[in-house]
Amino acid sequence: MSTEKPVRRVTVPQIAGRKGGAPIVSLTSYHAHTAAIVDRHADFILVGDSLGMVMHGMETTLGVSMELMIMHGRAVVRGTRRALIVVDMPFGSYEESPGIAFRNAARIMKETQCGAVKLEGGARMAETIRFLTERGVPVMAHIGLTPQSSHVMGGFKTQGRDSDTWDAHVEDARAVAGAGAFAVVVEGVVEPLARRITEAVEIPTIGIGASPDCDGQILVLEDMLGLGERPPRFVKVYGRLGEEIERAVSTYADEVRARNFPGEDHVYRQE
Ligand code: KIV
Repeated sequence: MSTEKPVRRVTVPQIAGRKGGAPIVSLTSYHAHTAAIVDRHADFILVGDSLGMVMHGMETTLGVSMELMIMHGRAVVRGTRRALIVVDMPFGSYEESPGIAFRNAARIMKETQCGAVKLEGGARMAETIRFLTERGVPVMAHIGLTPQSSHVMGGFKTQGRDSDTWDAHVEDARAVAGAGAFAVVVEGVVEPLARRITEAVEIPTIGIGASPDCDGQILVLEDMLGLGERPPRFVKVYGRLGEEIERAVSTYADEVRARNFPGEDHVYRQE
């Protein structure tokens, strides 16, 4: 009989309960291997639709499909045991109506076994967030710079540079919290606005390029590992994996070209 205690995943109420408490640690992950490493350190892992750009070379997140999100979501759930797994709803899967949003959110939850979904938009998505949460789908909201609306915003632009817009952003945060979102990602807004939003709502704010005063922080894993070609300015790079992979691959290529193939230790001998 095994004496090992089963590991319990972090739950949605546990994340919601961290408002104003110990900072919430979060990273994105898109596949089982890195997710297993992140799982040992993060409270929740986001299978973000940024995977379209990071993993599939897309220019924006707009081309990401339900099938891609489900495929990567399943891999991350399989690779993890502890962290809450949140899967992004891709562009076009939830905006049209609360009913369509529910059908797609339920499909993501059933097929990936994730614990929650994330969708972009503030006040305009409140009705949908309410519809989902009342039907058993935990929702993380995402306001500020919302990459799925990058064409409307005229690019990936920092929000709130003009303080006249602050009230609308705060209203977005209040609307998603009031509709039942358990946490809200606040992306790419000026620092004092992120602080104001954090003070205005009773759910945790998860900052990305926002403010150290948020209740937690999220980064795209590949950006903080030094794998992205052009990480956003606000990203602190904690590793130089791009350079390390380049070094290893070029050493390998040089050795093969020089016929310096792997020696004794690396081949099967017929006994
Ligand atoms: O898609 C994503 O990775 C995200 C994070 C940047 C918050 O939404």
